[in-house]
Amino acid sequence: MPATIVVGAQWGDEGKGKIANLLAREADVVVRYQGGNNAGHTVVIGNETFALSLMPSGVIYPEVIPVIGNGCVVDPAVLLAEMDALRQRGIDPSHLRLSGNAHLIMPYHRTLDALRERYLGSQRIGTTKRGIGPAYQDKYSRLGIRVQDLFDPKIFRDKVEVALKEKNRILTKVFNHLPASADEIVEEYLAYGARLLPHVTDTSLLVWQAIRAGKNVIFEGAQGVLLDIDHGTYPFVTSSNPVAGGALTGVGVGPRDIDRVLGIAKAYVSRVGSGPFPTELHDEVGEQMIQIGGEYGTVTGRRRRCGWLDAVALHYAVRVSGITELALMKLDVLSAFPTLRIAVGYLSLGERYDEFPRQQRVLYNCAPIYEDLPGWHTDITEVRRLQDLPREARAYLERVEELAGAPVSIVSVGPERSATFLRQ
Ligand code: IMP
Repeated sequence: MPATIVVGAQWGDEGKGKIANLLAREADVVVRYQGGNNAGHTVVIGNETFALSLMPSGVIYPEVIPVIGNGCVVDPAVLLAEMDALRQRGIDPSHLRLSGNAHLIMPYHRTLDALRERYLGSQRIGTTKRGIGPAYQDKYSRLGIRVQDLFDPKIFRDKVEVALKEKNRILTKVFNHLPASADEIVEEYLAYGARLLPHVTDTSLLVWQAIRAGKNVIFEGAQGVLLDIDHGTYPFVTSSNPVAGGALTGVGVGPRDIDRVLGIAKAYVSRVGSGPFPTELHDEVGEQMIQIGGEYGTVTGRRRRCGWLDAVALHYAVRVSGITELALMKLDVLSAFPTLRIAVGYLSLGERYDEFPRQQRVLYNCAPIYEDLPGWHTDITEVRRLQDLPREARAYLERVEELAGAPVSIVSVGPERSATFLRQ
């Protein structure tokens, strides 16, 4: 697995962290390429379970170098708190490498994220309120402040003051909110900078050298293809590019450096936040998916919306991310249902769609066209080999492969690490 991109093939929360952690056991480098602490994954160490949001997977293995690439946005307080939490559990995160070109999430980004959502009212995106969108907005308007700016106090102060000239007007005049204080931000952030300095590296070079040396590198995506700012269900998306292409710009490698793209999908679909979701269920089945699947967010604790597997959207994710193989997660959750449904097309505004529609109005009106498959209706959580799955479960996997257009190479049938097996 020399260079593998791990990408979410739905709306996030597919179990990328679990797969990245699994692959990380044989990896040399795990690099996050986009997003920030809007992502979340649960790590189990011994009897302890705890949530990480910024730290790349694999940080628990001392031989793995965890890297945060330039495409990420970094809340330094969160990053340092995660490092402290790891240390308290006996894990040394000092091998973390951080790109100096990654942008910082500033306190006013968090404030603006929350204020904007409040002002949008019923049209809100349902963001994680971590300041992700406003930080990326500043990056693209070239008002952003980067990790490397923390190491020059004068430049840092200048940049904060320039940013606040605009932000404080917006905070006070548009949102009727208190202004932010440059002095407080500078003092707080320079202290973070002092602690982060030893971790800052040319991460693009580090990853390139690792690939050249034949090392195993995992590019760990956050969120999912359908939350991509370009290819997702805009405007109900995140502000970065979770698609596999984002790994190239978010780290600084070329397309020919990548050997495989592993798409992670749940055997059903979940989504948090607002936005279209053609196969969403509002009935007892959807409720059972939430309860059996434990579908509550790692970062915000929000209840996730759930529905049947959407093969139209999955096929689209395979296409726009160049997914070469799939991991199908939480197959065991479907054991509860006697009949399973997969969306194989949509009907919208009097027309049939076999490909994922790009027009928001069409997508909003999509009613799924389902294909029904027999369920297996038996506990599969102890199964550890594909051939031991019930016939109906294997038939389900085969149909998913056909519809998605990519082979399923990893299957997960339960929360424990051992419940995830490779197709042999
Ligand atoms: P933001 O990334 O906080 O700006 O939120 C934008 C949208 O992406 C919202 O619908 C969030 O619920 C969603 N989102 C962000 N991060 C994740 C994630 O890790 N999993 C699932 N949804 C996410």
